[in-house]
Parts: sequence; structure tokens; C-alpha cells
Amino acid sequence: MERSSSVSLGLVLLGCSVMAAMLMGSSNAMLHVVGGRQGWDVPDNVTFYQDWAKPRTFGVGDQLVFPYRPGSNNLLIVKKKDYEACGMSDPIDIYYMGPTILNLTAVGDYYYVSSSGRHCEYGQRLHITVGKAPGSSGAKLPVKLN
Ligand SMILES: *[C@@H]1O[C@H](CO)[C@@H](O)[C@H](O)[C@H]1NC(C)=O
Ligand SMILES: *[C@@H]1O[C@H](CO)[C@@H](O)[C@H](O)[C@H]1NC(C)=O
Repeated sequence: MERSSSVSLGLVLLGCSVMAAMLMGSSNAMLHVVGGRQGWDVPDNVTFYQDWAKPRTFGVGDQLVFPYRPGSNNLLIVKKKDYEACGMSDPIDIYYMGPTILNLTAVGDYYYVSSSGRHCEYGQRLHITVGKAPGSSGAKLPVKLN
């Protein structure tokens, strides 16, 4: 893992994402950059992404940005059982051309994993709950536009 270059990649992606969100022009939408400076990669420990999600809320209309390099990682939306078992038997969606920007369009629980190598076992998985209220961001990238 090249930590410093992935940080600068993250910052570039961040800039692009903020611009994308501004073009979007929606009033209360929040932009969540998954993993903050870590982005979407094998984390330092297995609770990293749940720790990242814990202080935040996610709302319909928000966007999730998964910063990762195409080819070195991927993103699967999976069902709860696959999230818990790091199984990839029944993916809902597969993305591999990072960065991936997802629109949160409906309330519910969402489960994301990487199926690269043993990344999921090493903690590269995220569960969020999307509610009706606009989301918040703890250490943040709130993109609030009028
Ligand atoms: C996991 O790693 C993150 C980032 O390095 C750190 O902030 C957090 O305290 C760690 N959590 C545990 C349980 O070690
Ligand atoms: C997400 O929402 C934005 C703004 O409404 C839209 O431009 C974009 O196409 C959507 N992306 C997907 C993958 O649906």
C-alpha cells in the first residue's frame, strides 16, 4: 500500500467529488467520502469502517464516494449475510472502476465489501443505515448548497 500517494489521490478525488456535488445543486445533500483520508482500502484494523460510520448519519439524497484505484480494489453491494461472512455469493452490484459514487436513493440498511483478496476479512467492509432525514458528517465533507 502506498499510503502517501493514496492520500493525495484521495484529495484529488475529493475535489472532483465536491465539484460533482455542486453541479448536482441539491440543497441538503451530503457527500460522504468513505474512510476519510484512508479512502476505500485495506484499513489498519477490522473496525475502521464501522468507526468511520458511527458518528455519521446518512439520508436519502446523500452521496457516498468510495475512493479507490481501478484495478487495485473493488466495491460490491451485498446482502447482510454476505457482509457478515465476507461472502460474495450473491452480490447486488459490482463496481471496479474507482472512484465509485453512489446515490443513496432509499431508506434501509446497505452493506458494502471489497472482494479483492482477503480485504473484507481484514476489515474492508461497511454497513450503513440510510434514513429519511438529511445525513450528517462527523469529520466532514458536508456539501451544503442553497
Ligand atoms: C483503528 O484504526 C484507526 C485508524 O488508524 C484508529 O483511529 C482506531 O482507533 C483503531 N481502532 C482500534 C479498535 O484499534
Ligand atoms: C446520482 O445523482 C446525480 C444527481 O441527481 C445524478 O446526476 C447521477 O447521474 C446519479 N448517479 C447515478 C449512478 O444514478
